[in-house]
Amino acid sequence: MLTYRNLNTLGLLLLCVSGSALKFNLFNKINDRQEGNIRLVGSKSVSEGRVEVYHDGKWGTVCDDEWDINEAQVVCRQLNFPGAKSVVFGKDYGQAPGPIWLDDIACKGTETQLVLCEFKGWGVTDCSHKEDVGVICETGSKFKLRSNSTHSLDHSISLSDGFGQIFDSGIGCDFQIFLQSPTGKEHEDGTPEIIEETICAHKMFLSLFPFFGASSGMTNITVSFSISCQSHFTSFIRYFYTYKIDVTSSSAMCLHQMASKFGVKQLKADIGRLFTQILPEDTSFSTQVSLYQYAVESEDLILEENCIQFFAWNYQKLTSSPAWTSLSVELLRALLTRSDLVAPDEYFVLQTVEKWITENASSISLETQADLLSHIRFPMIPAEKLYELESNSPLYNTHKNMYLERVLKAFHFNVLLFNNILTNPKFKKEDLDYKPRIYTATPWSIELDFPRKMSSDQGQPVHQYSSYNRRRYDYGYGYYYATESPYIRSNSFVTPVHNSLIFQGNTTTWEAEILSTMNACSRKGLRCESVPAARLDQRSYYTPQSNILFRNRLLLMCQNRYICQVQGFKDNLAYVSTNGTQAFAYPCPDDNYKYIFVVRPEYI
Ligand SMILES: *[C@@H]1O[C@H](CO)[C@@H](O)[C@H](O)[C@H]1NC(C)=O
Ligand SMILES: *[C@@H]1O[C@H](CO)[C@@H](O)[C@H](O)[C@H]1NC(C)=O
Ligand SMILES: *[C@@H]1O[C@H](CO)[C@@H](O)[C@H](O)[C@H]1NC(C)=O
Ligand SMILES: *[C@@H]1O[C@H](CO)[C@@H](O)[C@H](O)[C@H]1NC(C)=O
Ligand SMILES: *[C@@H]1O[C@H](CO)[C@@H](O)[C@H](O)[C@H]1NC(C)=O
Repeated sequence: MLTYRNLNTLGLLLLCVSGSALKFNLFNKINDRQEGNIRLVGSKSVSEGRVEVYHDGKWGTVCDDEWDINEAQVVCRQLNFPGAKSVVFGKDYGQAPGPIWLDDIACKGTETQLVLCEFKGWGVTDCSHKEDVGVICETGSKFKLRSNSTHSLDHSISLSDGFGQIFDSGIGCDFQIFLQSPTGKEHEDGTPEIIEETICAHKMFLSLFPFFGASSGMTNITVSFSISCQSHFTSFIRYFYTYKIDVTSSSAMCLHQMASKFGVKQLKADIGRLFTQILPEDTSFSTQVSLYQYAVESEDLILEENCIQFFAWNYQKLTSSPAWTSLSVELLRALLTRSDLVAPDEYFVLQTVEKWITENASSISLETQADLLSHIRFPMIPAEKLYELESNSPLYNTHKNMYLERVLKAFHFNVLLFNNILTNPKFKKEDLDYKPRIYTATPWSIELDFPRKMSSDQGQPVHQYSSYNRRRYDYGYGYYYATESPYIRSNSFVTPVHNSLIFQGNTTTWEAEILSTMNACSRKGLRCESVPAARLDQRSYYTPQSNILFRNRLLLMCQNRYICQVQGFKDNLAYVSTNGTQAFAYPCPDDNYKYIFVVRPEYI
C-alpha cells in the first residue's frame, strides 16, 4: 500500500526526473495493480492528475458527469492525501488510452474507496475521453499531534439557572436599583411625571460591573430609562446573575442601550450583531426607523449604516409602508444620495419624494424641499416620463425654475453624447446625476428563481440521470454543454446598451445564469471559486462604446420580502455565499431567496 510519506518522497523524486515518459513509468510501478485501486496521471505533481481506476486488469478513466467535490474527496483520501483541493474538468492530462470505467458516479464523501460509491456499472457510459475528470488533492500534513486532551464537564448552565432563582426570590438582596421612567407627561404643578420601580439585587453579582459601585460600599443606585424600555429592565438585571438573556426585536434596542450604559461590552456587541437579523423582521418598518434613530442618538455609526443600507435596498417597500411619511429629513436625504438605492426607476424615486414632501408640506420649508428634490437624478428618469412631469408632478409649479433647469439637463443627457455634454464646464463627469442607481424596471433586470433544495450544495446532490436534455456546442476551441439540468437555470433578455435615448436602438442581449454545482460551472467552461454562482454575460456584441461601462448588480430577494444582499459581478460572475445565515448583509432564514440580475450601464 502506498503511504502518504512514500508519495511525498516520490514527489521529490519526480521533480528531479526529466521526461514525462519516465515519470509515468515510475508511477505505474509503484501503484499496485489491484482491483479498485486508483491513481492520478498526467501532471508533474503527484497530488494532481487525471483520475484512473484499476478494473479487470486495465486502468480506465472516470467521466465528469455528476463529478463534484464529494467524489474528489474520496479519491484524495483513498490516495492518503488529507483531502481534495479542487475538481478539474477538461484539462489536458494527456491522452488516456484505456476504457472509461466510471460514469455518473455519486459519492457521499465518506466512502473509503471510489468504487464503493454508486455508479452506473463498469464501462457503462455515454462519455468521451474529453470528459475525463481530474482532481487536485491537498498536500498539507494529515497527521496532527494531538495534545493530551482535557475533558471538561460544563454544568454552568444549571448553575446560572440557580443564580436566576436567587434573583427571582430576592432573598438576601442588599442592593437597591431605583429605575425612573419619565412618561413624557407632566403633573398639574408642571413637574414631569415619572414612573418609579425598585429592583432589589445582590452586591455579590453586581460587583463585577463598576457602574453599580457595589464593591465600593454603595447600597443603591438610581437609573433612568424611557418608559418603552422599562419592562425590559428586570430581565436585564437578571442577566448579571445568569449571563443569559432572551432578546427579541422589540427588546433589542432597549437592552443594547442598557448594556451600553452599564458597560456590559459582550452583551452590547452580541446584540449589535443581532440587529442585522432584526432589521428585516418588521414589515411596517417602524422597528427599523426607531433603530435608526437610536443609532443616530447613540452615535453608533455601524448600526446607522446598516439601517440606511437596508432602507436603500428595500426602498420600494419602505415607501409603501406606514413609516414612509414619518421619515426624518436627514434620513431621506441620506437615502437619496446613495447609488445603491434599489428602485424600479428614477421616476419612481421622484414620485415618492414628491409624495413625502406633499404630505409634510406644512412642516418642511421650501428650501428643504428644493434640497431634497436636488438629489433626484433627473437624467436617469426615462425620457418619456420627463415629458409628463409638467402635468403630473404636484410640485412642478412650486419649484418651477428648478424643475425646468433639471429637466433641460436631462434632455441634454438623452440627446447628446456624453463627451458633448462635458464640453460645457458646468457639467462634470463625476456628477451623481449621471450615475444610475439600481433600477429594476424592465428592461434592465431579470429575475431567476432557484428552489433551495436544488441550489443547495450541502447534503446529497440531486441525481436525475435520465432527465438531462443535453446539447453540445462546438466553438473555435473547447466546447460546452447547454444543459437543462437541475443544477442550472438560465434566461436571456435584451437591453439598450445605455439608458440615454440616443442608444435606444442599440441593444445587446444578456444571458443570466445560476450555476449551483462545480460540475455545472465546468459544463459552461468556467472554474467557479464557489457555488452557487450567478453569471451575467453579454451575448450579442455591438460596436463597443469605449465610454460605457456596465456595473451590473446581483440582488438576492429573501422570501419575497426583502433584499438581503446586493453584490457586483467580477468577470461576469458573482458568488453567492452559502454559509447559512452568516454571510449576507441581512440574513435570510432558510436560504430561500430569488436572484435578480440588474444591468447598469454607466458613462465613464
Ligand atoms: C500526556 O500525558 C502523559 C501523562 O500525564 C505525559 O507523560 C505525556 O508526556 C503527555 N503528552 C503530551 C504530548 O503532552
Ligand atoms: C442610597 O445610598 C446612600 C449612600 O450610598 C444612602 O445615603 C441612601 O440613604 C440610600 N438610599 C436609600 C433609599 O436606600
Ligand atoms: C411628516 O408628516 C408625518 C405625518 O403626516 C409626521 O409624522 C412626520 O413627523 C412628518 N415629518 C417631518 C419631517 O416633519
Ligand atoms: C447604434 O445604432 C445606429 C443605428 O440604429 C447605428 O448607426 C450606430 O452606429 C449604433 N451605434 C453603436 C455604438 O453601435
Ligand atoms: C464558510 O464556512 C466555512 C466553515 O465554517 C469556512 O471555512 C469558510 O471560509 C466559509 N466561507 C465563507 C465564504 O465565508
